[in-house]
Amino acid sequence: MVNLCVNIDHVATVRNARGETEPDPLHAAMLCELAGATGITFHLREDRRHICDEDALALRRVTKGLLNMEMADTPEMVKIALRVRPDQVTLVPEKREELTTEGGLDVAGQLDSLAKTTKKLRRAGITVSMFINPDQEQVRATRDCAATHVELHTGRYAQHFDRERRKAFEELERLEAAALVAHGEGLVVNAGHGLNYRNTTHVARLPFLNELNIGHAIVGRAIFHGLDVAVRDMIAIIREAEQVLEHDE
Ligand code: PXP
Repeated sequence: MVNLCVNIDHVATVRNARGETEPDPLHAAMLCELAGATGITFHLREDRRHICDEDALALRRVTKGLLNMEMADTPEMVKIALRVRPDQVTLVPEKREELTTEGGLDVAGQLDSLAKTTKKLRRAGITVSMFINPDQEQVRATRDCAATHVELHTGRYAQHFDRERRKAFEELERLEAAALVAHGEGLVVNAGHGLNYRNTTHVARLPFLNELNIGHAIVGRAIFHGLDVAVRDMIAIIREAEQVLEHDE
């Protein structure tokens, strides 16, 4: 069964727009879990533009399922992760000026630092995942770092989906190939970025997929229909995609 972790960063974005306390990302986390999400994802960015340190600590207290912390590989973030103790850390590249995480991590190019960070986090009992483009060299580098999970970046697939479907399907093939290699290397396969109510079905059928991380589309739909409905609608899409797969087998 494919798990859904809901990224609640943009609840904090709305809160921070007024510098007040509402809407509260903790309430969002609780509602997502009640609606059936497997867990909660948040990104603690260097500039703290949405989630802040206190949110991270509070999310640890309220989240009953999987708590997944996205962060850059910096000494400051490693220290915070060791204090927060999420169940899983997903290491992501981070640029201050970007609107959202733009590309995957260059694991092969930063092997030493990422391997050291992975070791520290795993020693504390935290699962480590690397957010990478669907590139087989990066999959193998993730295994070399002793991380146990990869999150395949679906952003390029998502960008093409409504504009040039052919290119989206080419990218889907790269995602499938990367998922197969990752599974073959003994890695758990997660995926995410840019997924919405139109484009998630194909990704939910990736081979050996364990978890999807979805944020913007769910929080966006919640504005109109409420968070409970937004989460349930996404879970329904994932379950339907899985049923079609079972039917094919
Ligand atoms: N996965 C990772 C590693 C991310 O950085 C993000 C964005 O924070 C997501 C998934 C969720 O992306 P989206 O908000 O587009 O669903």
